Amino acid sequence: MKILVTGGAGYIGSVVTEQLIAAGESVVALDNLSQGHRAAVHPGASFVQGDLRDRSLIDAVLREHRPAAIMHFASHTLVGESVEQPFLYLGDNVTNGLNLLASAVEHGVQRFILSSTANLFDAPEEIPITEDERIVPGSPYGESKHLLERILHWLDRLHGLRYAALRYFNAAGASPERGEDHDPETHLIPIVLQVALGQRDRVVIYGDDYPTRDGTCVRDYIHVLDLAQAHILALHALDGGSRVYNLGNGQGFTVREVIEVARRITGHPIPAQVGPRRPGDPPELVAGSERIRRELGWQPRHPALEEIIGSAWRWHRAHPDGYRE
Ligand SMILES: NC(=O)c1ccc[n+]([C@@H]2O[C@H](COP(=O)([O-])OP(=O)(O)OC[C@H]3O[C@@H](n4cnc5c(N)ncnc54)[C@H](O)[C@@H]3O)[C@@H](O)[C@H]2O)c1
Repeated sequence: MKILVTGGAGYIGSVVTEQLIAAGESVVALDNLSQGHRAAVHPGASFVQGDLRDRSLIDAVLREHRPAAIMHFASHTLVGESVEQPFLYLGDNVTNGLNLLASAVEHGVQRFILSSTANLFDAPEEIPITEDERIVPGSPYGESKHLLERILHWLDRLHGLRYAALRYFNAAGASPERGEDHDPETHLIPIVLQVALGQRDRVVIYGDDYPTRDGTCVRDYIHVLDLAQAHILALHALDGGSRVYNLGNGQGFTVREVIEVARRITGHPIPAQVGPRRPGDPPELVAGSERIRRELGWQPRHPALEEIIGSAWRWHRAHPDGYRE
């Protein structure tokens, strides 16, 4: 199958591209390189540098490559930024998604996978968080993903577009060849590893007075290779109908536990300093992923935090400057 991967030069999109190629699929990666890196794109993929704001470019790519499916990773992705610049998210993220979807419908693409998010669940009533949980977007970022999920719902009903919305919790870890390289970096695990590499003095813990086992926030870290596997399974299940899945390990770890495991793996003391809470950080976000396990037989192959952080550490140590080499 030929698949258009938007954001294919980004962290998750580049690893999914690599895994799709390993599974024998053919990939066209589209990315404006605002965050992504050309070197992250698997050499077996075709690459188009371009922006989803440009509808005529999307039309040209779909006309030339005729993909059977689209995986849509390209997005503004920062919760904090979305609170400061809501139009970048409620505007750009949504209109770029609409451009892509309008073009997909026009060119008869019938399968679509959306990168959605745990930021749909700002006030969960139950942990682990299942697909039955009430949707309360935590920011304009989460709202932009929710709007795209709703648009997909209507395009399925009206145009028969089969979709999967995969709501990732915290993607983490690396494949042997591809890892996480964002600027600015806002994710805990790469930040902690930058301290171990001597690139930062310390890691700041945002609040240690939450109602959790050690007072720091609990999050669910899912290995990026397990995420990739879920995309491949979802892609092949779409002929059986559209679907929505929460995707995580189902295990939560506190910020202090992540730092402790990173200290053991790297052998570095990783100094930590407690700072104030960040607005909008819920105490605990852990995914209930029973539905995807039951329906698609998905099983995380790398659930242990040691394995997730270990894989990220191997990649960061081999690429201390990320892709800028
Ligand atoms: N990383 C996580 O933990 C996480 C969690 C939940 C959801 N997600 C979602 O997963 C997706 C991928 O996340 P990531 O961490 O790999 O982010 P990323 O920033 O590494 O990748 C996104 C890519 O999209 C590209 N891009 C952005 N705007 C574009 C545009 N207008 N046109 C073309 N390309 C554009 C960027 O250059 C980048 O390469 C995003 O949609 C994000 O919202 C990520």
